[in-house]
Amino acid sequence: MERIKVAELFAGVGGFRLGLENTNSKVFDVTWANQWEPSRKVQHAFECYSHHFNTGQHVNIDINNVSDKEMADTNIDMIVGGFPCQDYSVARSLSGELGIQGKKGVLFWQIIRFIQNTFPKFLLLENVDRLLKSPSSQRGRDFSVMLSTLNELGYDIEWRVINAADYGNSQRRRRVFIFGYKRDLSYGKLLQNKELEDIIYESGLYAKAFPIEKEPYKNRVSYTEIPKDIVEVSEDFSFTYFNSGVMRNGEVCTIDTKPILEEPTPLKDILETEVDEKYYLDNSKIEKFNYLRGPKKIKRTSKTGHEYYFSEGGMSETDSLELPARTMLTSEGSINRSTHFLKDNVGYRILTPVEAERLNGFPDNWTNTMNDRMRYFCMGNALVIPLITRIANQIEEIVSISDDSYSQLELF
Ligand SMILES: C[S@@+](CC[C@H](N)C(=O)[O-])C[C@H]1O[C@@H](n2cnc3c(N)ncnc32)[C@H](O)[C@@H]1O
Repeated sequence: MERIKVAELFAGVGGFRLGLENTNSKVFDVTWANQWEPSRKVQHAFECYSHHFNTGQHVNIDINNVSDKEMADTNIDMIVGGFPCQDYSVARSLSGELGIQGKKGVLFWQIIRFIQNTFPKFLLLENVDRLLKSPSSQRGRDFSVMLSTLNELGYDIEWRVINAADYGNSQRRRRVFIFGYKRDLSYGKLLQNKELEDIIYESGLYAKAFPIEKEPYKNRVSYTEIPKDIVEVSEDFSFTYFNSGVMRNGEVCTIDTKPILEEPTPLKDILETEVDEKYYLDNSKIEKFNYLRGPKKIKRTSKTGHEYYFSEGGMSETDSLELPARTMLTSEGSINRSTHFLKDNVGYRILTPVEAERLNGFPDNWTNTMNDRMRYFCMGNALVIPLITRIANQIEEIVSISDDSYSQLELF
């Protein structure tokens, strides 16, 4: 099978690359990667990435400063990347022209610029699931801007919100995965004749990689057509996107689907057996965690002088070792309510950096090129690698439907 040359954008410590390199047929070759942590002198994630991977070009500059030529010269077949959820709105330019240049500094538009310079066959993007609903004042606007833009560039899209623990992993981490393919590829042509619902339930990439029940949750199925004018989309369009969906030629079908659950891995299964004492907590830290996790009702005063009560419910005393872990955030290295707090047979402690890596499916000590605090930070940013491998195995299946076999299919 021909190699698929990949550009890894917003590469972090290489979660996508590790997932792609672990597939059945090993066709993915990351030949160009970009990672730059804004406003940091020491580029921890980039250093870690370059330490582990020694093929391809690794670029440590702000993606906004990568030139069109440099992008075009990559000559890649696929773009992958986990990018921030920002405001994707667009305004008509004063001259009235339609362009697909959004706000400056919004990184999604850099992905679009990369696509315009390379027109890869495939895209695989990852984001927080909130992207489907943003902004709250105009539900679904940002995702619609994204779909409209990709539609205009000739891509069809499948998306799915996946909670890693639902498919056997040790972390409850819910993210939206967006798969795009040029509509003139064999795969796109094959799906032309399918019902959109069939793509979601049966024949699409996610249906194969992550099986779901064939019934929608609470009958939630919706259709819409995305306007071609992205300014119109940005100004007026809103729509409720469910966790699964497909866009073909601007026609959208979205369904609230239920996963066919696979046995999750409990937290206890990924814990280290020998844990350095520095990860165990003294009484003052234990008390702090107890307070943070406990129920509260606190009187506060707003900026305008208005008094109100802030309240939050209690959490379990410690994280259950029998369940998958909660979502790891970039703040995992500090004491706060979302940080994991465990009790093992020695005492109360936090996760070790190696356990944080295991929750995402990274090899042990992958990030030991940096200090602990940064290791937790990078894992809070990263993704659950086995999910990428499952998706990438399906992309390999798609690639194996060559144009020749497609024309054969048409002939017979
Ligand atoms: C959500 S993380 C992706 C993590 C990655 N998937 C991994 O497995 O480690 C986004 C990454 O984009 C990087 N980033 C943010 N702004 C950037 C920019 N302007 N140019 C290049 N990279 C940027 C951040 O430093 C961060 O590592």
